[in-house]
Amino acid sequence: MTNSVSFKTRARTIDHLGREQIADCPTAISELWKNSYDAYARSVELHIFDGEIPVATLVDDGHGMDRAEFENKWLTIGTDSKITGSEVPEEDRDGLPDRPKQGQKGIGRLSCAALGPLLLIVSKRDKMPFVAALIDWRLFENPFLLLQDIRIPIIDFEICSELKDKLPDLFGTMMGNIWGERDDTARNERLAEAWSQYSKTEQLGDKNAVTTKTKIESTLIKDVFSDKHLATWAVWNKKSTKGTAMFMAEIHQDLEHQTSKTRYSDAPDDEQRARLTLQQTLVSFIDVFQLDNAPHIQHFNTSVTAWIGDTPKPLIEEFENSTDVLTRHHFDKLEHIVEGAIDKDGYFTGRVKVFGEWHDNVTVKPKAVYKTRKDTRFGPFKLLIGGYEATRNNSIMGDEDWAYIDKISRQYGGLMIYRDHLRVMPYGREGNDYFEIEKRRTKNAGRYFWSARKTFGCINITRKENPNLKDKAGREGLIDNKASKLLAMFALNVEKPSHRPYLFDIPSKRGGLYGD
Ligand SMILES: Nc1ncnc2c1ncn2[C@@H]1O[C@H](COP(=O)(O)OP(=O)(O)O)[C@@H](O)[C@H]1O
Ligand SMILES: [Mg+2]
Repeated sequence: MTNSVSFKTRARTIDHLGREQIADCPTAISELWKNSYDAYARSVELHIFDGEIPVATLVDDGHGMDRAEFENKWLTIGTDSKITGSEVPEEDRDGLPDRPKQGQKGIGRLSCAALGPLLLIVSKRDKMPFVAALIDWRLFENPFLLLQDIRIPIIDFEICSELKDKLPDLFGTMMGNIWGERDDTARNERLAEAWSQYSKTEQLGDKNAVTTKTKIESTLIKDVFSDKHLATWAVWNKKSTKGTAMFMAEIHQDLEHQTSKTRYSDAPDDEQRARLTLQQTLVSFIDVFQLDNAPHIQHFNTSVTAWIGDTPKPLIEEFENSTDVLTRHHFDKLEHIVEGAIDKDGYFTGRVKVFGEWHDNVTVKPKAVYKTRKDTRFGPFKLLIGGYEATRNNSIMGDEDWAYIDKISRQYGGLMIYRDHLRVMPYGREGNDYFEIEKRRTKNAGRYFWSARKTFGCINITRKENPNLKDKAGREGLIDNKASKLLAMFALNVEKPSHRPYLFDIPSKRGGLYGD
């Protein structure tokens, strides 16, 4: 006789798929912003509050979820959007132009675990009740717990004020994951055993170490989320009838740093890094160049606000409204620009600006011809890349333009990848050398022109035209398949006619070297 058994899943799996996959806070935020975009939100805001228990809220005015959707979509891990149907029905689009879906793997929402361990999520569809759930992600750190033993408390309610009264119930059920509940004694025994074992391992080296169990137990739910946090959500203020909100407590240090009162230049290293990466990542979340004036991103606004006491400090907007912006207007002032498209076989057509002089109708054949099969095709893509001479004397740009570009290169430098005009991480980030810009420079600085931080621009892929360029399960980056390798290669290896230097190896006219 054949016996059969099924896989058992430890609760830790959720932690592996979520928190552990996420590189850092800005990456997690961009993943959640993509969810709001997919829900046809017009606006998604991140608010970070200081205080004894720092809190962050991520709120949108998208179509929201009703209770069934919340259970079947949000609480069901790994459902590929191909199965659930990626088309958002017309009535859920809020009159907005069609948006190509960003979500792929069905685990993006788990990235909120990287922002803070305690999550209160509330969602509402137009003309439907609210649905809310409370999750402490630290439950999923216990390697002795089985996933099926964890219960996620969920409620629905009609008016905002009911939430406050129901929070203690939510909290009670959540604590049932530690203390057990009346209805299932077998589960209670498993839970007790799992927590005792886990605490034991946690205190192996240090008897006084605070256990995860104690950390979860010491959360005082009624003191965590207050009206000022809830009020950041348009639905709570009756400004919208639909949307989704995440309220997160005990937030990651990198988020806390955003509420710092210290001047950037006086802040310690780790704080500076946290503040700069957040800006660098989120300021270019939406394609700033809008290669084809894409209508689908025109009604999507993102913002980050740090609250210091009762004083809001807009982070990204402040940045965008200040003089430090990179728009197409600024970009066009760069002395070297390559703008055009690469077709499915690697041929470039477009225009090239070298030391301020435009050359139109440039066509460039690829350095080598590669046979691609259906599954290795990278597909046609657009590109816009610009650079400038980092040595002032070598540049032909005016003093003011040069100084400005040089100043903003720290925030905006890097060659990014956008998919349907939203940023794919981590391309364009410091330390990411997917296009091997730095590697080439180190190898042969005389011939290779571009330097990562002094390069601006993007490669624009689309879900429709470049289906083989898929996101990794861990979401950071594209799967390292043949198609993505070819993309990187073709993007920077196009050859100029008659064996002149490669298109992307613009040599300096003045003898100096870019970036030196
Ligand atoms: N902000 C949101 N508004 C409405 N629905 C959402 C939101 N975030 C997540 N969801 C729902 O949860 C599902 C899972 O999201 P996610 O884990 O990011 O996977 P994916 O985006 O690949 O589908 C989404 O497909 C959507 O149905
Ligand atoms: Mg998603």
